[in-house]
Amino acid sequence: MGLSSWMTAVLVMVTMATVDLVHGAPNIIILMGDDVGFADYEINDPAMRTPANTALAQKGLTLNQSYTLQTCTPTRTALLTGRYSYKLGMQLGKIKGTYLRYVPVEPKLLPASLKDLNYTTHAVGKWHLGFCDWKLTPRYRGFDTFYGFFSGAQGYFNHSGTGTPSFDFRDNGRVAWENKGLYSTELHTTRVQEIIRGRKREPFFIYMAYQNAHSPWEAKQSYIDDYCSHVQGEKRRIHCAMVAAMDESIKNITDTLDEEGIADDTILLVLSDNGGPLGYGSYNWPLRGGKSSFWEGGLRSHTVFVHPKWVVNPGTTWDSLIHVTDWYPTLYKAAGGNPSDLQEMDGIDQYWKLIKGKQGTRDRVVLNIDDKRGRSAVRIGDMKLLTGKPCHNSLTSGAPAPPDMEAAGTANSFVVRIQDVPEKQLFNVRQDPRERNNLIDDPQYAEILRELEDFRDYEIENNLVPFPANIPKAKEGKPEFYSGAWSPGWCCAG
Ligand SMILES: *[C@@H]1O[C@H](CO)[C@@H](O)[C@H](O)[C@H]1NC(C)=O
Ligand SMILES: *[C@@H]1O[C@H](CO)[C@@H](O)[C@H](O)[C@H]1NC(C)=O
Ligand SMILES: *[C@@H]1O[C@H](CO)[C@@H](O)[C@H](O)[C@H]1NC(C)=O
Ligand SMILES: *[C@@H]1O[C@H](CO)[C@@H](O)[C@H](O)[C@H]1NC(C)=O
Repeated sequence: MGLSSWMTAVLVMVTMATVDLVHGAPNIIILMGDDVGFADYEINDPAMRTPANTALAQKGLTLNQSYTLQTCTPTRTALLTGRYSYKLGMQLGKIKGTYLRYVPVEPKLLPASLKDLNYTTHAVGKWHLGFCDWKLTPRYRGFDTFYGFFSGAQGYFNHSGTGTPSFDFRDNGRVAWENKGLYSTELHTTRVQEIIRGRKREPFFIYMAYQNAHSPWEAKQSYIDDYCSHVQGEKRRIHCAMVAAMDESIKNITDTLDEEGIADDTILLVLSDNGGPLGYGSYNWPLRGGKSSFWEGGLRSHTVFVHPKWVVNPGTTWDSLIHVTDWYPTLYKAAGGNPSDLQEMDGIDQYWKLIKGKQGTRDRVVLNIDDKRGRSAVRIGDMKLLTGKPCHNSLTSGAPAPPDMEAAGTANSFVVRIQDVPEKQLFNVRQDPRERNNLIDDPQYAEILRELEDFRDYEIENNLVPFPANIPKAKEGKPEFYSGAWSPGWCCAG
């Protein structure tokens, strides 16, 4: 090879490397816990064991004003569509086995948009967005692969509900019977590690939707022994182990990224789908209320965002408002896309604000509208208007403190009977995150109150798709007609 052709070759190589760096689309992993409460992390209750979460918070940002919806399906809908769930009739409820209910087929889901940017896309763990028709299932909605379960809850080992038969574990299109008896968290983790190790040149997107720490109350004994034997109260102890297993999984996944040398090129988003359900060992202290309620404890998620190479203030708290719909355009932007190409987003792209540690661009959010029970929650700036009864029992209207903190005197529970909760409440949730000081009658707030009411009423009049009065069920969907496993193929999704 002559000198000049040799130099040309080097030049081409350098140029290619530069192009690759400039393009440099990061890998993206969403690690979403299920029913993990605000105080289920060691940073908020020292009795918990979540060192991997703490380590990520030190590398990235803790988002302390990060909202989801009150339960599983509504949050997952908002995350993957970038739209308010009440615009899709998905603001409430869960999708049980034979329900003819699903996220409408028309919105393009986040993985499909990332595929437009040449990402490979993978869903692992829980789906819970409908499966009666194949075209509703992950691989027909933008994911290249799926390893997990369609429904909302099941045993961690038997992968079944309480009905027999009700097996629910897929490896892509196939029922994964071989996983019976094996602990789901470890199976899901292993699959994520395989995807990372087996990656090709394209960047990957992994949506890891943990089963932990949803009911049933079931933890592998080793996680109780290794991490949680010191915890007071049996419910809290088992819950601690369920969360600790998730945290160990996060450690294993981040270790794999390190081993592969791609940690610096991978965005991690760690959050929960909703607040912890109270009475089952989960706590949202200092926030009030729990899963299903519109109190902060039902809606606010301890969230960690990591992009070690780019985040300018690692280890700090990002205290701006961010809603679960924002992740769609934000991650699309991170992936090199232009969010203005996306259709009908309610989410706001906050990518550069996050990366640069600047104040966010969202000043208001509809937290949710529940037309079935006549309740709603909206926020503008720091002010939140809550209307209707926040939830159905007194526990979810108070703020129980974790047993170890209660015993140590570092937190004291308060309980308010549901009948004593006013129909209309106004809080400054930044100054008063526990929602104790109702400002509704304070004339100083008359103007913001009117603004909040107008904001909510506009959405109700113009954008709300009513929650269906009756959800039809189809007996044909029962697993007994499908060799004992929950399976698609018994409805025709429009
Ligand atoms: C995706 O890949 C195709 C085929 O290789 C290429 O033409 C296109 O430019 C790529 N798009 C992006 C956004 O990288
Ligand atoms: C599967 O395990 C869960 C949790 O232990 C249990 O509640 C459920 O009844 C089991 N299902 C079957 C079909 O045995
Ligand atoms: C994490 O990795 C260790 C070591 O390989 C393994 O024993 C453990 O089961 C893994 N934990 C999870 C939750 O996958
Ligand atoms: C995060 O929010 C909680 C509840 O509002 C508050 O108690 C805590 O001090 C906040 N943490 C930071 C670092 O701002």
